Amino acid sequence: MAKQKTVYFCSQCGHESSKWMGQCPACKQWNTFTEEKVTETKKGGAKSLKTSASPMNISEVTVENEERIPTGIHELDRVLGGGIVKGSLSLVGGDPGIGKSTLLLQVCRNLANSKRKVLYISGEESMHQIKMRAERIGTFEEEMLLYCETDLDAITNAILKTKPEFAVIDSIQTMYSEDLSSAAGSVSQVREVTAAMMRVAKENNIAVFIVGHVTKEGVVAGPRTLEHMVDTVLYFEGEREAAYRILRGVKNRFGSTNEIGVFEMCNNGLVEVENPSKTMLNGRPIDASGSVVVCSMEGTRPILIEIQALVSPTSFQMPRRTAVGIDYNRVNLLMAVLEKRVGLQLGGCDAYVNLAGGMKLGEPAIDLGIIMAIASSYKNRPILEDTIIFGEVGLVGEVRAVSGGEARIKEAQKLGFKRCILPQANVDQIKVQTDMRLVGVSNVMEALDLI
Ligand code: TYD
Ligand code: MG
Repeated sequence: MAKQKTVYFCSQCGHESSKWMGQCPACKQWNTFTEEKVTETKKGGAKSLKTSASPMNISEVTVENEERIPTGIHELDRVLGGGIVKGSLSLVGGDPGIGKSTLLLQVCRNLANSKRKVLYISGEESMHQIKMRAERIGTFEEEMLLYCETDLDAITNAILKTKPEFAVIDSIQTMYSEDLSSAAGSVSQVREVTAAMMRVAKENNIAVFIVGHVTKEGVVAGPRTLEHMVDTVLYFEGEREAAYRILRGVKNRFGSTNEIGVFEMCNNGLVEVENPSKTMLNGRPIDASGSVVVCSMEGTRPILIEIQALVSPTSFQMPRRTAVGIDYNRVNLLMAVLEKRVGLQLGGCDAYVNLAGGMKLGEPAIDLGIIMAIASSYKNRPILEDTIIFGEVGLVGEVRAVSGGEARIKEAQKLGFKRCILPQANVDQIKVQTDMRLVGVSNVMEALDLI
């Protein structure tokens, strides 16, 4: 008879402890420990990956051509670094309803239509419901296997029996292993199922995608545990109400991270947005104060996007500040730079800063754009509509060079912009001929003189 014991897991990082603690010693989060009952097995824990028999010389190890399966969805292929790597395990995270199942069903359709064997395992929807969704997103010409099951053993057997090239587990939170007594979705279950899928994927050269819902704190249950176990982590971002969805690579053992894919949720599934800059700038107000266009490098791709700021005298004790799509603390910091170095009286003003289109940007190159949007709204003077802005701003008010200057300028020129406000240090480096008027600035004061 296997013995049961109680252990406690941190729901943030998956740290395991034999007693409850207020603060997790690993990730320092408070109140994250949850109780779980686990059955002790003789071997103790999940089996690890089958490894080679003995140590080998690196020169003797042969690599077959790193095989990639193109998904037929270019935006996804780019985020993955050129297609799905055979035998890899990937995690697709995101809020419920953002479109994870839809995207993966579309991938299954494309692969099935190109004569590859795929298996879609769902623990959330019935065959009937999946079929209804499949009918919305288009025709399936070839056979695709569907399986509705939540038991880990049954799933593993099904995969081993059918031997697909590509399998989807939708979602990790609904799957459970009989060996553990804790509920589906608990840290130990999520870990166990992921480890089992890792073995299935690597030992049989099957590419497996796991869907994971994120909690309201924005993380998949036991995120660190999952993220270090899988090869690739993709997150689906965006507001459920907004049309655009952004797929971001957070970890990728076979390619660069930071790449993004932009999609639009339509009546017939997710549609790729081929020119995000153009789409994001659609319907931009002309000659309005507080509106500027910035250029941010997302992976290898420059994306132009509008930042809007609204600064108005406050009627509250404490001025209100909000930031949507941009780091709130960064906005506060840049406002402090404007107060201290330029002397704008922002202390008595409410300030709202938004990024259009439901995008989230974190690149420091948008600093100068945020500063100029705030100043433009404060002074109520618009910035010429044919201008794009990029540059990093330091605490002393200096404007620092950013990488990828030429790529940014090229993208702006393609979309018909005529003037670019950029760090002086970048102007000195640029070698390409351009029709754009490049206005170099070396500090915030110089930039604000242009408004
Ligand atoms: P879904 O893929 O089920 O989300 P997740 O698996 O991440 O929870 O996305 C479902 C949402 O997308 C739902 O609100 C309906 C909408 N939708 C469309 O707008 N068009 C479509 O063609 C499909 C299939 C779904
Ligand atoms: Mg789903």
